[in-house]
Amino acid sequence: MAPESSHPYPLPEEPAPLDAIWALRDFEPVARDRLHPAAWGYISGGSWDEVTLRDNTAAWDRHRLLPRVLRDVTTVDPSTTLLGRPVALPFGVAPAALHGLAHAEGECATARAAAAAGALFCLSTAASRSIEEVAAAAPDGRRWFQLYVTDDRDLSRTLVQRAARSGYDAIVLTVDLPVFGYREADRRLAFKMAAESLAHFARDEHGQSFEEIIEKAYVPITWDDVDEIASWSSLPLVVKGILHPDDAALAVEHGAAAVWVSNHGGRQLDRAPAAIDALPAVVEAVGGRAEVYVDGGMRRGTHVVTGLALGARAVFAGRPFLWALATAGEPGVARALAILREETELAMALLGARSVAELTPEHVLRRVASDVPSVTADGPVPR
Ligand code: FNR
Repeated sequence: MAPESSHPYPLPEEPAPLDAIWALRDFEPVARDRLHPAAWGYISGGSWDEVTLRDNTAAWDRHRLLPRVLRDVTTVDPSTTLLGRPVALPFGVAPAALHGLAHAEGECATARAAAAAGALFCLSTAASRSIEEVAAAAPDGRRWFQLYVTDDRDLSRTLVQRAARSGYDAIVLTVDLPVFGYREADRRLAFKMAAESLAHFARDEHGQSFEEIIEKAYVPITWDDVDEIASWSSLPLVVKGILHPDDAALAVEHGAAAVWVSNHGGRQLDRAPAAIDALPAVVEAVGGRAEVYVDGGMRRGTHVVTGLALGARAVFAGRPFLWALATAGEPGVARALAILREETELAMALLGARSVAELTPEHVLRRVASDVPSVTADGPVPR
């Protein structure tokens, strides 16, 4: 672990109380008050005008849920399988860089809370803690490793192989970051992405500084590279950052076991569609040949059931777990997961769905705002 004295953005030592936290959004102002403005700007910010960032959440709220009644919902079971293996919850922790910005224990704390709750945890390439440290912190949890491919193919392949050896059971290849989006907050606040003390992977592999690695970490890759990356291990490949249905079909043709619908939390191309608006066309294009996940703006159990009903096998969130981590470390993330679990179970019961399999598109009414373009399996349709 890096010495804390070199942490560029000091953290409060005491956890904040959790007794006034009743919703994921309650963590947000607490986290903002506790973090350095540059760290907060990096976590909370989007790109350009943040149209997509705002729309990610607003889009969930444009959907309405249509309940079925007089069904026996005495017990409701939110468990499911992802890539053929069980998870207790149909939502999980999306990969996010640098949990060390939010808490000294970084990803180890988040992964422990996720494992205890039975939620899937996805570790970022740009994590503050190493692949092995996180595996050791939560040995019983389900975990996937998210890959950014650098122009140093050996380094990337080694990361995949370390993940495979450490019990991660899928590789999540993020494809929506050929370049960084125009993130104004990071520029205004001079966010130090290059904080070497926060990032494990450069140190672990080649002794290079994070700055050196990061400069070449995000190189554009193409569909041809996907085949090569898939060959680096026997783990299933999840392709994350898909919005267009044709790209979803291409991912399946290139062997993806799952397609993850995402606009990177509104941090890449601003004015890209909200993730939940892009989901139905991707589900249609994939046609059951692979699993489909979605993230972006999910803050409520009512959002989780909407995503599941529209064909996602799991729904992920990024920022809320970082807010929870900044609020109170592992107990904060545990509280966030417990709230989301209770909200999801209540929403399922009120919809008359005893299992996630009983959530269907008939449970959702979609209200499309007249000025928002939609996406269909035939491509984008201007409205
Ligand atoms: C991210 N995201 C991300 N995605 C990824 O594949 N690798 C990464 O390293 C990161 N890093 C990252 C850092 C921070 C601070 C955020 C907020 C997000 C994107 C992430 O996986 C996910 O797509 C979004 O966070 C989902 O949107 P919400 O839930 O944050 O609204």
